[in-house]
Amino acid sequence: MTEHHKTSGAHSHDHADRDWDTLGTLLEQGAELHGPVHAQAAEWLRERSGGTVRRILDVGSGPGVVTCLLSRAFPDAEVVAVDGTEALLERTRARAERLGLADRVTTALTELPDGLEAVGSADLIWSSLTVHHLPDQQGAVRALARALRPGGLLAIGEGGLPMRCLPRDAGVGRPGLQARLDVAMGEMFTEMRAALPDAKEVVEDWPALLTAAGLTGAAGRTFLLDLPAPLDVTARVALRADLTRQREAAADRLDDGDLAALDRLLDPDDRAGIMRRPDVFLLSAQTFHTAVRAAG
Ligand SMILES: C[S@@+](CC[C@H](N)C(=O)[O-])C[C@H]1O[C@@H](n2cnc3c(N)ncnc32)[C@H](O)[C@@H]1O
Repeated sequence: MTEHHKTSGAHSHDHADRDWDTLGTLLEQGAELHGPVHAQAAEWLRERSGGTVRRILDVGSGPGVVTCLLSRAFPDAEVVAVDGTEALLERTRARAERLGLADRVTTALTELPDGLEAVGSADLIWSSLTVHHLPDQQGAVRALARALRPGGLLAIGEGGLPMRCLPRDAGVGRPGLQARLDVAMGEMFTEMRAALPDAKEVVEDWPALLTAAGLTGAAGRTFLLDLPAPLDVTARVALRADLTRQREAAADRLDDGDLAALDRLLDPDDRAGIMRRPDVFLLSAQTFHTAVRAAG
């Protein structure tokens, strides 16, 4: 049975600088698309973890796509999805049920990082694209490190390469649209961090942050998502949803020409749009930074 813990101080939107609940479908599609990346990363962690992995925490688990992938990659382990948004944990429980993993996948409604202590310790802690949403990233890495059992492994998924899906000159608008979108999204990322209450600036040197948290043997690896053209419909739908979100978020920072080009690319009926053109591909990379808690 899927168990549902609630740790102290958790409210579904305590952490909301955005509406995670509404983003549920987008997060789910994105994580499903990145399944091959997560599978490679999980395989690397299996090699790196050495000892037996009995308990895993997926911290900032979102809709639980990766939680379930970890549960399959580590068939002897129980996996706890830890997140502050109840609607996403509900999706996680439904997914685990659908995939026949409900006996080993549980959820813990938790406000990070303070609620983490109540979730208990683990042999492997995975936290992807979440620490950067917390005001004190070094403090968050320390909290994650404290939750490791002796000999346990922490894997933080942060950084990599921005996604590419079209040629530099896609024949729609001015060449270089994706590079300009990257700049806009980068500026918004900086503003998102600055707007977090009590945000602490820190150099995002993840091996140094892991080492400062008392862990040893910091090592990183980057995994490539390489879906060549022509892309299948599922990937196009996920890509279109992601570009739609980027267009909405970056609308004030792009000129009229770029906005018009994006509108054509997002139009499902336009032959030059990403749903129909033959040259759409998907290329991106995600980096995982790992380190170990010294064995007792
Ligand atoms: C970008 S999603 C990452 C989801 C998933 N790890 C992935 O890689 O697809 C970030 C997740 O962190 C959660 N989150 C952000 N800030 C949080 C906080 N302060 N406490 C608890 N959860 C938080 C959100 O609810 C969301 O599910």
